[in-house]
Amino acid sequence: MDLDARRIPIVDVAGTDKPEEVAELQAKRPVCPVTMADGTDAWLVTGYEEVRKVLTDPRFQRDPNITGNAATKTPVPEHTGPQMRSLDMDGQGHTEIRSLVSSAFSGRAVRRFEPRIQEIADSLLDDFERQGSPADLASEFARPFPVAVICDILGISVSADEHKEIRRWIEASMSLGKYSPEEMQQARIELFGYFQRVVAEKREAPADDLLTALITACYDDRKLSELEMLRLAITVFVAGHETTVNAINLGVWRLLQHPDQFAMLRDDPDLVTPAVEELLRFQFHPTVGIDRRRFAAEDVTLGENTICAGDVVIASVNAANQDRHFFSRPDRFDITRTPNPHLSFGDGPHYCLGAALARAELIIAVRSLSVRFPGLRLAEAVEAVRRRKGLLVAGLERLPVAW
Ligand code: HEM
Repeated sequence: MDLDARRIPIVDVAGTDKPEEVAELQAKRPVCPVTMADGTDAWLVTGYEEVRKVLTDPRFQRDPNITGNAATKTPVPEHTGPQMRSLDMDGQGHTEIRSLVSSAFSGRAVRRFEPRIQEIADSLLDDFERQGSPADLASEFARPFPVAVICDILGISVSADEHKEIRRWIEASMSLGKYSPEEMQQARIELFGYFQRVVAEKREAPADDLLTALITACYDDRKLSELEMLRLAITVFVAGHETTVNAINLGVWRLLQHPDQFAMLRDDPDLVTPAVEELLRFQFHPTVGIDRRRFAAEDVTLGENTICAGDVVIASVNAANQDRHFFSRPDRFDITRTPNPHLSFGDGPHYCLGAALARAELIIAVRSLSVRFPGLRLAEAVEAVRRRKGLLVAGLERLPVAW
């Protein structure tokens, strides 16, 4: 790779999946001008310190329609019709909207909910075990588990058939190339319509759940408009679906590629907490994910570069998680690693709202699997396991395991 070149084209949405390129970028150009697959010019940030700065400095904004002194110079993806990412905003407005759901996902709320999460995991693993070895962990456990949890929190019950449809809408609406723009748009409209129906039903039968709380905040307390309320509910629903599903798949896949470490975990269940942190640090390794996109609201110095107002900046948390200045032997998967200051949940005002929930789900999933299936192993060669492509959240199509 010619690091002196003014631009490094990112040809694939996943950036580069060569760890040596990531290390070279970090060492020589931790803030590097790039051209993305769609032709957009951007800055790719791979250094840990620089990634944290982009995520925490309010001059780097999430909302592409930056107001005030700078208009974006670079065209941003068109958002027409019902948007899904209701927290793509900054400042006070973002804090206010976020506060309407944050208590439902606080550490305390999640701790209270843990027995229920365990119950959901146990029941799915009973079915999984009954099917017999080998089986596909992705479809039988990793997918339904976080979905059932988030539906429970929101207070939505979804039939298996409905769920197939919903999965397709979510996948299409979060496409990065797999679906056409028209299909993406259609999927968003369908999902939005579905939520309109669910909200109407919930208004008829309120309960002690998050959706009822949002409905009250909207129609009774007037803290948010109907559109904002629907978008917020969809954001939480979608985030609770895709991310943890893929973190479980990729995490278990990674763990089972290291049978010695899986054995350590089986023998010492207390290792589950650092193990989950390491799974999170490693989850998308070695790809440079390009998902944390920000827009400079004014000129900012970042490393040795001046980022001009309106520039697009891509903070790669995956690359930051491999920075050798912060992690000794970063390419080594080590479930005993402490401290482990990975940035997999981001940082700053947009720090993952569901981090406590995701951690609890991952701990329960990994612990339950290692206790109930001490002989768990991959049923297919590592290379045979297909990765999901062309979608915003990386993951696996299937995860065949035996025990
Ligand atoms: C292992 C699983 C997960 C990972 C790796 C993850 C990762 C992230 C990251 C990196 C961000 C920051 C985005 C940015 O800075 O632009 C984020 C934000 C967010 N996450 Fe998660 N997440 C996970 C699970 C969840 C779950 C279960 C929920 C369910 C509520 C959730 C809800 C959200 C929301 C709503 C935001 C936006 C927060 C904001 O903009 O204020 N996440 N997540």
